Amino acid sequence: MESFYFKLSLLGILIPCVLLATSMVAETTGDDELRTFIVRVQPPEKHVFAIPDDRTAWYRSFLPEDGRLLHAYHHAASGFAARLTQRELDVPSVTPGFLAAQPNVAYELLTTHTPRFLGLDVPQEGVSTINHSASGFGDGVIIGVLDTGLRSFASDPSPLDMDGHGTHTSSTAAGAVVHGAQVLGQARGTASGIAPRAHVAMYKPCGDECTSAAMLACIDAAVGDGCDVLSISLRDTSSGSDTPFYQDSLAIGTYGAVDKGIFVSISAGNSGPNASTLFNDAPWMLTVAASTMDRLIGSQVRLGNGLSFDGESLYQPEISAAVFYPLVYAGASSTADARFCGNGSLDGFDVKGKIVLCDRGNDVGRVDKGAEVKRAGGIGMIMANEFSNGYSTLPDVHVLPASHVNYPAGAANKKYINSTANPIAQIFFRGTVLGASPAPAITSFSSRGPSQRNPGILKPDITGPGVTVLAAWPTQVVGPPSSSVNSGPTFNFDSGTSMSAPHLAGVAALIKSKHPGWSPAAIRSAIVTTADPIDRSGNPILDEQHMPADFFATSAGHVNPVKAVDPGLVYDIAPDDYVRLLCSVYASRDVSVIARRAVDCSAIRVIPEHALNYPSISVVFPQAWNSTANPVAVVHRTVRNVGEAPTVYYPYVDLPSSMVNVEPRSLQFTEANQEQSFTVSVRRGRSGNAKVVQGALRWASDKHTVTSPISITFE
Ligand SMILES: *[C@@H]1O[C@H](CO)[C@@H](O)[C@H](O)[C@H]1NC(C)=O
Ligand SMILES: *[C@@H]1O[C@H](CO)[C@@H](O)[C@H](O)[C@H]1NC(C)=O
Ligand SMILES: *[C@@H]1O[C@H](CO)[C@@H](O)[C@H](O)[C@H]1NC(C)=O
Ligand SMILES: *[C@@H]1O[C@H](CO)[C@@H](O)[C@H](O)[C@H]1NC(C)=O
Ligand SMILES: *[C@@H]1O[C@H](CO)[C@@H](O)[C@H](O)[C@H]1NC(C)=O
Repeated sequence: MESFYFKLSLLGILIPCVLLATSMVAETTGDDELRTFIVRVQPPEKHVFAIPDDRTAWYRSFLPEDGRLLHAYHHAASGFAARLTQRELDVPSVTPGFLAAQPNVAYELLTTHTPRFLGLDVPQEGVSTINHSASGFGDGVIIGVLDTGLRSFASDPSPLDMDGHGTHTSSTAAGAVVHGAQVLGQARGTASGIAPRAHVAMYKPCGDECTSAAMLACIDAAVGDGCDVLSISLRDTSSGSDTPFYQDSLAIGTYGAVDKGIFVSISAGNSGPNASTLFNDAPWMLTVAASTMDRLIGSQVRLGNGLSFDGESLYQPEISAAVFYPLVYAGASSTADARFCGNGSLDGFDVKGKIVLCDRGNDVGRVDKGAEVKRAGGIGMIMANEFSNGYSTLPDVHVLPASHVNYPAGAANKKYINSTANPIAQIFFRGTVLGASPAPAITSFSSRGPSQRNPGILKPDITGPGVTVLAAWPTQVVGPPSSSVNSGPTFNFDSGTSMSAPHLAGVAALIKSKHPGWSPAAIRSAIVTTADPIDRSGNPILDEQHMPADFFATSAGHVNPVKAVDPGLVYDIAPDDYVRLLCSVYASRDVSVIARRAVDCSAIRVIPEHALNYPSISVVFPQAWNSTANPVAVVHRTVRNVGEAPTVYYPYVDLPSSMVNVEPRSLQFTEANQEQSFTVSVRRGRSGNAKVVQGALRWASDKHTVTSPISITFE
C-alpha cells in the first residue's frame, strides 16, 4: 500500500507544469514590485554591433542598474528580459529604440492533464512507419528540443529533467535504437526515434516554471548554436488563441528562427475538440495535431447479457476470467456528482465487492477515480467517456482492475444496468493489441482550427502520433504492488500534441538531411502536400466521434515520412512574405517587433492571408460579400520542381467546378528547380447553405501527387 501511494504522488509530479507556472504569473501586481519584462528594442538604423557584448552593452543602457538584465537576445529576437518595476519601465519606454515591453508569461507543457502510462511498440511509431532506406536517418541534422532538461535557462539551473517530458519528446524526435523497450510489461519491442542519427540539442525553459523570457532565451541560444530544426511542445497559458502575434513570445521567437532558416515543429494544443482551440498557429510554424496509432493496451468489459466492449488499462493484474461481479453505476448514488467518482463521493454508497461504473471528467484524475472506488471497497472500475471524448480512450496505471471505455460503450453499460435487477460484469485484460481500427484517428484533446488569428491560413498543418506514445523516460515506471516489474531501459507512455510535434521534428530532420538547402517553408510544403488523408483501412481519417475529421482537425492528414522526402513540387515562402502578410493585419510598429527590424508597412507590397504561398488554401468569404452577385477570390500560387525533369503536372480538384477553377490546365517543367505559377479561382458556386466547404487540389505527374487541402468559409 505504501508504495502505491508513493506512486500516486509521483504521478502528481507528472501532471502539468501549469499548476506551478500559474503561481509564477501571479508573481506581483504593484507598481513598485520587481517583475520580469521582455523589452523589445530596435537598434538605430545601420547600426552594426561588432561583437555580441556590444549589443548587450546597448541593452544595459535601457536599465536603471546592473544586475537587472536576465537574458540578452541576439538571434531570435531583438531585445532583452530584465527585472524592472512598472515605474522603472517609464525610462526605457522613452529611450530611442524602444518598441514594446511585455510581462513575462507562463507556458505549459502540452501533455494531457492526467497521469498517462500507456503501452505501445515503438517500432510502430518509429521504424515500421518509416522506410529508412528511402528517407534516411536524419544524419548530420541538429534538432533543438525546448523542454524539461539539459542546458538550463530556467530559474532552476539544474540540467536534469525532473519531469520526464523533455526526455520523452527528444527521444521521440531523435532517440537511438534501443531493444527491450516496454512499460509494465506492455508494448515490448525495439524503440527508435524518428531520425535516430540526428543530433539533439536540449534547452530547458522549464524548471519549476516555464516562462516566455526563458523560452525566448532558449530559442535565441538554439539559433546561435546552429540548430536546423526546433521541436516545441509548449503553449503560452496567459494568452488566448486570439492574442496578436506581436504579443506572443513563441510566435516572435520562432519567426526569428525561421528567418534564419530553422524549421519549427510545434504542438497545436490540447484544448480540443471544440472549434478554434488552436494555440501555436503562426504562418511560419508547422502546427501539429495529435492522432492515435493502431495499438491498444486492451482491457475488455464483458456484461452479463453477453455484450463485450474494448477499453484500455495499462495496469493489467492477473484476475480470473471466470468470475462475474455485481456492477453498479456511481451515478445511482444520491450524492451530487458521484458519477464522476471524485474523492469521498462514494461514501455511504454500497460498492463493496462490485465493479463501479464512473464517468470520465469533472476535473477528477482518471487514476483518482479508481482510487476512490478502491477506497470505498469496489473491486474494479469501468470509466466511461463523456460525449465530448467520444471514442478516445487512454491506458492508465490504475490502482485496481479497470477499463476506460468509449462513450457509446458507456451508454450501453448504463442501459444494461437499468435493464436488469442484478447487473454483473467482468474485466478481461487483453495485453498489447495491435491492428486496432480505425487508425490513425484524431483524438478528442487535439486542438482544432479554424485559426482565429489568421483564418486565411489553414491550421493545424498536419497530424502525427500523439496518443499512447512510448519513448524514453528518466525513471522506471512503477505500478501498483501486484503489477509486473520493469527492468532494463526506462520508457513511458505519454499522450498529447507534445508527443506529435517531436515526431514531425524528426520527419523534418529526415527531409533536411536529404535536402540541406531547403527552406523551412519548403520542408513544411513537402510534409503537407504528401500527407495521407486516409487511414490504414483506406477510409477518410475519422475524429473522436468516428465522423470524418474536417481540415480544422487534420488539415492535410497524417504525416507520410517516406513521401515527404520526395514531394515532387514545393511551395516556398521567403521570410519577407510573412512580413508582407503581417502588414495586412498589424501596424508597422507591431510588425517591427516580430521582424526584429524597422518595417514601414506603407512602403512594401502588402498581401492578404490567402495570397501567402502556403501549401494549403483557406479562403474566407466575408459576410459583406453576400450582396455581391458572384464573388470570386483569386488565389495565386507558385511551385518549384524538386523532382524529376522534364515533367508535366495536371490539376485535379475534388470540389465542384462551379466553385473552384484552376488555371493553367497543366504545369510543364523542363528542368530541376524551375518555378511555375497558377491561379485557383474560388466562387460561392453551389455551396448551398454550407458555412464551410472543403476539398483538395492535387497536381499529379507520372511519379508524384502534390496535394493541397482547400477550405472555403462563408461568414
Ligand atoms: C523502401 O524504399 C526503398 C527505396 O525507395 C524501396 O526500394 C523499398 O521497396 C521500400 N520498402 C518498403 C517496405 O516500402
Ligand atoms: C464545446 O462546445 C460545446 C457545444 O457547442 C459546448 O457545450 C461546450 O461548453 C464547449 N466546451 C468548451 C470547453 O468550451
Ligand atoms: C484524491 O485522492 C487522491 C489519493 O487517493 C489524491 O492523490 C488526490 O490529490 C485527491 N484529489 C483531490 C482533488 O483531493
Ligand atoms: C436509467 O434509469 C434512470 C432512472 O430511471 C434514468 O434516469 C436513466 O436515463 C436511465 N439510463 C439509461 C441509459 O437508460
Ligand atoms: C446571403 O445570401 C443568401 C442568398 O441570397 C441568403 O439566403 C442568406 O440569408 C444571406 N446570408 C446573410 C448572412 O446575409
